[in-house]
Amino acid sequence: MMRAKNIVFIGFMGCGKSTLARALAKDLDFVFLCSDFLIEEKFNQKISEIFAEKGEEFFREQERKMADFFCSCSGACIATGGGFINVSNLKKMGFCIYLKASFEYLKRRLNENELSKRPLFRDEIKAKKLYNERLSKYEQKADFVLNVENKSIKELLDAVKKVIK
Ligand code: S3P
Repeated sequence: MMRAKNIVFIGFMGCGKSTLARALAKDLDFVFLCSDFLIEEKFNQKISEIFAEKGEEFFREQERKMADFFCSCSGACIATGGGFINVSNLKKMGFCIYLKASFEYLKRRLNENELSKRPLFRDEIKAKKLYNERLSKYEQKADFVLNVENKSIKELLDAVKKVIK
């Protein structure tokens, strides 16, 4: 397979998209891009503040702008937010890897501090509902599904490198 222009990580909150995208970028000497981080930097506000002050729809609009920008990039490992899969041009961005894990596993991974950064994970019942609604979307949009449960970064990195070669 010819190497895609970018490697894009998708999946629910807490699955390790930015950790793995950063590790892969270092390994391949690619650029590391993170949608949430770039949006935070633009407004000089945390995601939770953007949600509280400007609302979710404003944030989704920023994600769509970020998606257009990512389509114009190459040589990047891209970490997306959990809801980023709703942009229309995901497929044009590069090779999409879905980091899959059960809701229980993801919940266990997120400590108080990590939960406080994620407005849509504060209510566990709502988060579980969102997880169930998104499951099939992640699968549909992915070029490759990687089960991340109980795997080390090294194991995940090796698995990713095999499929993108
Ligand atoms: C969201 C996930 C978050 C962040 C925002 C909304 C979502 O990113 O983009 O809080 O809709 O699932 P992570 O997946 O990195 O937590």
